[in-house]
Amino acid sequence: MFFVTFTVIFIGSHALYYNPELYVPKYHDFIESQTNLTRDLFNGYDPTVSPVYSKIDPLQPLGYDPDAPKRYNYSIMLYSLKLVEVNEPAEKVAVVMEIMEYWYDIRLSWNASLYDDIDTFYTRQSNVWSPTLSAFGADELVDLRDPDFRMVCVNSNGYIYDYISVRVSSSCPMNVYKFPFDYQTCQIKFCLPIFNSVEIQIFNEIYVGVLMSDLWETMGNSEWKLTNLSNRVETLQYNDGFGNLDLGIFEITIKRNPLYYIYMIIFPSFIINVVSIIGVFLKGADKMSRLNVGLTNIMTMTFILGVMADKIPRTGTIPMLGVYIIVNLAIMIIAIGIVTMITELRHWLAPFLKRNETKFSRKLETFIGPPLEFTCAIILEVFTCAIFGVMIGFWLGDDK
Ligand SMILES: *[C@@H]1O[C@H](CO)[C@@H](O)[C@H](O)[C@H]1NC(C)=O
Ligand SMILES: *[C@@H]1O[C@H](CO)[C@@H](O)[C@H](O)[C@H]1NC(C)=O
Ligand SMILES: *[C@@H]1O[C@H](CO)[C@@H](O)[C@H](O)[C@H]1NC(C)=O
Ligand SMILES: *[C@@H]1O[C@H](CO)[C@@H](O)[C@H](O)[C@H]1NC(C)=O
Ligand SMILES: *[C@@H]1O[C@H](CO)[C@@H](O)[C@H](O)[C@H]1NC(C)=O
Repeated sequence: MFFVTFTVIFIGSHALYYNPELYVPKYHDFIESQTNLTRDLFNGYDPTVSPVYSKIDPLQPLGYDPDAPKRYNYSIMLYSLKLVEVNEPAEKVAVVMEIMEYWYDIRLSWNASLYDDIDTFYTRQSNVWSPTLSAFGADELVDLRDPDFRMVCVNSNGYIYDYISVRVSSSCPMNVYKFPFDYQTCQIKFCLPIFNSVEIQIFNEIYVGVLMSDLWETMGNSEWKLTNLSNRVETLQYNDGFGNLDLGIFEITIKRNPLYYIYMIIFPSFIINVVSIIGVFLKGADKMSRLNVGLTNIMTMTFILGVMADKIPRTGTIPMLGVYIIVNLAIMIIAIGIVTMITELRHWLAPFLKRNETKFSRKLETFIGPPLEFTCAIILEVFTCAIFGVMIGFWLGDDK
């Protein structure tokens, strides 16, 4: 009952009950003018119909009709970005983006001097027409705002803006050839579906504050660091010109922090290989225990290779870390081969060397044995250190 009475009074006179002890007169005037303004603006306004000029032939060149308005403007501005997840095997990148979008609606423009100089007001997004921002080529777009509480700001030029917070998961082809010293470049694309690019022009920009260097640090995660962020607009072109679409593209370049792989894979492999080579060539050890050392090492390397395989897409390229482990594996196999061969060689050569003894053959006989093993061990150790050095060099050289 009270509600009905209240409504009747409200609609009938637009009189606001106003207590001068609580509110200053200026505030009262403002509310009354704003009420008048929104009443006039929304009178006959249909938020489900777009203001986009549609009398355009998509097959004609842009601007063929000099009297037609310019293409409808729609802009997105990136405020903040946060890398959430990089999934290398699936070649996907997920980011959370804070974006401001703005556009114009000529039906919501007014002469501010007629309404007490009110230049802007705020309203629920459902009251005005809004373009539907979509992610292009993304497999997931989650709008993190509650649909019931989305607000927009409208100003007297008919300029409308709002703020959106989305999580986008976009596919991103990964080049893991330099893994774990790799960079990846991923694009997050936005479009306005169903509007042709002759009707709507998309602008995208990055808020200048974001481009200041110290903000970069916070945008990656513990494994990936953001090294570049750029924006551009591309038009998806088709030969017939009919399905052309403007795409607003944000491109991120991320760089992996290789430290984890250095102390989890590269350094342990190096130590294991150095020790195993000593073990395999150990003087006086019997053949079986030398072989055991070698086989244990090979199993360890294979296991490490498996750990790495979980982090890379299943493409044909062998990443640098894989090459490193495979070379280590090869060194171990060569070590086992040499040890086995030297004992066989001595058995096989002994009769010949015994038969015609010369100074040279006696020297040869002593050499094929511990001195040869020692030489091979040194060569293989040097080689192991060299490839470890190359990996460390890559790491340090890349850090600059
Ligand atoms: C608002 O509109 C009403 C009637 O349309 C008018 O009487 C009133 O003066 C207007 N208020 C302002 C502040 O313009
Ligand atoms: C759209 O943006 C362009 C470039 O900023 C500007 O020149 C043009 O006037 C805008 N058009 C409308 C309808 O606002
Ligand atoms: C806005 O209204 C004022 C007061 O009526 C008038 O003087 C002015 O010319 C109007 N401005 C425009 C752009 O129509
Ligand atoms: C960032 O990316 C843009 C666009 O790809 C490029 O022009 C610019 O040189 C890059 N900046 C750096 C520091 O790599
Ligand atoms: C060593 O043996 C080979 C064949 O067994 C023979 O041809 C050669 O003449 C011998 N050399 C000497 C110095 O006896």
